Amino acid sequence: MSSPVPAPVAIVGAGSIGAAWAIVFARAGHRVALHDVDADRAATALSEIESRLAELDGFGLVGAEITAVLGLVGVAAGLDEALDGAVYVQECVVESLEVKRELFAELDRRAGPDAVLASSTSMIPCSAFAAELPGRARCLVVHPGNPPYLLPIAELAPAPFTDPETIERARELLSGAGMVPVLVGKENEGFVFNRLQGALLREAYCLVRDGVASPADIDRVVSSGLGRRWAVLGPFATAELNTRGGIERHARLLGPAYARMGAERGQDDPWTPDLVAQVAASVHEGLPSEEWAEHVSRRDRALMRLEQARRADPDLFTGFTRGD
Ligand SMILES: NC(=O)c1ccc[n+]([C@@H]2O[C@H](COP(=O)([O-])OP(=O)(O)OC[C@H]3O[C@@H](n4cnc5c(N)ncnc54)[C@H](O)[C@@H]3O)[C@@H](O)[C@H]2O)c1
Repeated sequence: MSSPVPAPVAIVGAGSIGAAWAIVFARAGHRVALHDVDADRAATALSEIESRLAELDGFGLVGAEITAVLGLVGVAAGLDEALDGAVYVQECVVESLEVKRELFAELDRRAGPDAVLASSTSMIPCSAFAAELPGRARCLVVHPGNPPYLLPIAELAPAPFTDPETIERARELLSGAGMVPVLVGKENEGFVFNRLQGALLREAYCLVRDGVASPADIDRVVSSGLGRRWAVLGPFATAELNTRGGIERHARLLGPAYARMGAERGQDDPWTPDLVAQVAASVHEGLPSEEWAEHVSRRDRALMRLEQARRADPDLFTGFTRGD
C-alpha cells in the first residue's frame, strides 16, 4: 500500500521563519503555498529557500531531490489562493499582537473549515489573539526554534479553548515532518524555549552590567561549554550525569548556592524536596542510577562526535567568537 500524500500547507508571512518552515514541510513532501503582504519578500524567500536547500543537501539533510522539494513550494497570488485546500496554516508574520489578532480573524474567516491555524509567535499566548474567534477551537501556537529545518523542536502551546483534536492533528503533521513536538501544559508568555532562553539572557546582561565578563566571553562560555553540552543533554540530565549520586545529590550540594544566586536577582523559587523528587523520578526513567557510568560514557561519545566535527572544519565554528 502506498503511503498517503502529505496534506497541503499554507505559510502566511515569508520572512525568516516562514521561509524556514517552508523547507521543513516541503522536505517532508507537503505542497506549500507561501503568502506575504510584501510580494517582493515572497519572491526573495523562494530564492532563499532554493539556496538553503542546496546547502542542506551538501550535508545530506534534504532526503529527496532538491528540484522536487523546490517544486512543492509556490508563492500564492493572495491569501485566498494560499489557503485554498490547506489543512494546516502556519502563521509567520511580525511579532505584533495587533497584527496577529487581525490576521487570525482573517484566517478563521477564509481558511477551509477543517484547517488547523497555528501561530509561530515567540511569546504571545494563543488566547491573546484567538479567544474571540468563532473557530478558536482550531487555533494554537506552534513555536519553532530558528531555523526549524535544523532545530527540530516545535512547542505546541494550545489555549484552554483549543480542541484536543487540533493539538493531535498538529502533532501528527509535525512529527511526520521530522519535528519533535512538545506540549506546553499551561498558557504563558514565552512558552518553555524562550523562558529558558530568557533566564540565561537576563543573567548574561547582568554579568556584563556588573563587569563580571565581557559579552564575547559570555558567548564563549556558552558556545565552548554550556551550549556544547546542551546539544546532547538538557539541564536536568546534565545535573544527573555531572554528579556522583545523581541529581538528588546535585540539588543537595549545589541547590543552596543556586538559591543564593537567585536571591541576588530578587528571585525566591527554592528547589523544594518534593520538586527535586519529581524531577529526579522523571530523569531516572531514562537514566536509571545503576546505569550512571554507562550514560556518562554515552554522553562523552556524543561530545566526541561534536568535537570531531569541530576539528574537521574549525572555521565553521570559530566565526562567531571575537575578542572584546
Ligand atoms: N526569527 C526567529 O528567531 C523566530 C523564532 C521563532 C519564532 N519566531 C516568530 O515567527 C514570526 C515571524 O518572525 P520572523 O523572524 O520570520 O519575522 P520577519 O520580519 O523576518 O518576517 C515577517 C514577515 O511577515 C510579513 N507580514 C507582515 N504582516 C503580514 C500579513 N498581515 N500577512 C502576510 N504577511 C505579513 C512581513 O512582510 C514579513 O516578510 C514572529 O511571530 C516571530 O516571533 C521568530
